[in-house]
Amino acid sequence: MAVDLLLGLQWGDEGKGKIVDVLTTHYDIIARFQGGPNAGHTLEFDGIKHVLHTIPSGIFHPTALNLIGNGVVIDPAIFKKEIEGLQPFNIDIANKLLISKKAHLILPTHRLLDAASEAAKGKGKIGSTLKGIGPTYMDKTGRNGIRVGDILTDQWEAKYQLLKEKHLKLLAGYPQNDTFDLNALEAEFMAGIAIIKSCKIVDSEQFIYEAQAQGKKILAEGAQGSLLDIDFGTYPYVTSSTTTAAGACTGLGVAPNQVKEVLGIFKAYATRVGSGPFPTELFDENGAQMAKVGHEFGATTGRPRRCGWIDLVALKYAIQINGVTQLMMMKGDVLSGFDSIKACTAYTTSGGTQEHLPYDLSDPSIAPVYTTIPGWEEDLTGLKSEADFPENFRKYVAYLEEQLATPIKIVSVGPDREQTIFRS
Ligand code: GDP
Ligand code: IMO
Ligand code: MG
Repeated sequence: MAVDLLLGLQWGDEGKGKIVDVLTTHYDIIARFQGGPNAGHTLEFDGIKHVLHTIPSGIFHPTALNLIGNGVVIDPAIFKKEIEGLQPFNIDIANKLLISKKAHLILPTHRLLDAASEAAKGKGKIGSTLKGIGPTYMDKTGRNGIRVGDILTDQWEAKYQLLKEKHLKLLAGYPQNDTFDLNALEAEFMAGIAIIKSCKIVDSEQFIYEAQAQGKKILAEGAQGSLLDIDFGTYPYVTSSTTTAAGACTGLGVAPNQVKEVLGIFKAYATRVGSGPFPTELFDENGAQMAKVGHEFGATTGRPRRCGWIDLVALKYAIQINGVTQLMMMKGDVLSGFDSIKACTAYTTSGGTQEHLPYDLSDPSIAPVYTTIPGWEEDLTGLKSEADFPENFRKYVAYLEEQLATPIKIVSVGPDREQTIFRS
């Protein structure tokens, strides 16, 4: 019995969707364990680009089952759009997609509360995707939430009205609210509820347990990244769920001793979307080049992503917290053409040089200490095997592997499924 985990090790958007899609042929079940439609997971194959938000990234493969776990929060309106977007591809949604009864629902008023809360924060805003994530997880832990299983009961409408009324009172407490058409939002929401009802709704922890007992191979798909984790991320500039390995246990009902491989994904540089500290952020032409070549725009919101050099202090921390056993390096191709590349190996702080992540990364006295590595000119996007790596690219990969003390098993050199190199 074993479950493998796949997690982002930075601030999200590392390329999780692409790698889950690539690895799905090795698994029977792909199970999303946390987050919601704040995620945007991109897959590319056969010249088509797909962006998934709630649906696991194994959905395009004919055999794998895809589970939306109890740790996920679902916006029915967005879910409906996702399902509709898949219609041209003849996917057997009725049989291949399963939804946990214990997953929580994002109500239209959760989204309104998210927007009101962010607006009230002014300059201190989190830079939320405004998908209602924070308020929904607050209602979950506050024991007020509505779960997918509830929509199968007679009391569901009453529960919905009660929570909505509570939210409207909360909204009235905010200084100014954008005008909104709640009736229209509710109509979309209820249409989405009907779509959810037409899907397979399951006791997901039991489903996962039985699948394990039958020897099925399961890959747990994370959303966001370790530095956005509610406990270990750059709080308060984080999301509201456990994005780290432990989140797969609570978000699916997998026992910790059933976790086998922990696959950690990182970009060859670093990006962040939204507010919060980012010590290696670049404001020069190097950052602009990463953003341009890497098409660094949010898959969910379209916002430009902030770019910077790779931060090995933060990556080592993420590897430690998650118990990462294998690494996957993405977007090495984006760094072609840089004379030299920098990697942050420590921080200077008011208390001296530090090689572990400080309590508050926003502390203005923190500055990165860099090691400089020679760059490469060659285009990597056509590479098929490690034997073809340009010398300096090979050295960069070897340097990171040594620094991170964890094998880099996959090197990705482009967004397409085919642009994936497995290392022995
Ligand atoms: P996720 O949220 O972790 O699934 O990542 P996103 O899909 O939000 O962002 C990753 C972006 O990089 C997407 O546009 C991918 O198509 C793209 N991508 C993934 N791997 C590579 C790669 O190796 N090279 C390049 N150039 N793009 C990549
Ligand atoms: P994937 O799964 C990148 C960021 C937001 C914001 C903070 C809180 O595609 O990697 P939230 O909407 O959760 O309240 O926003 O977290 N954020 C992400 N950044 N990728 C994501 O998901 C993200 N999901 C949330 O930009 O800074
Ligand atoms: Mg993304």
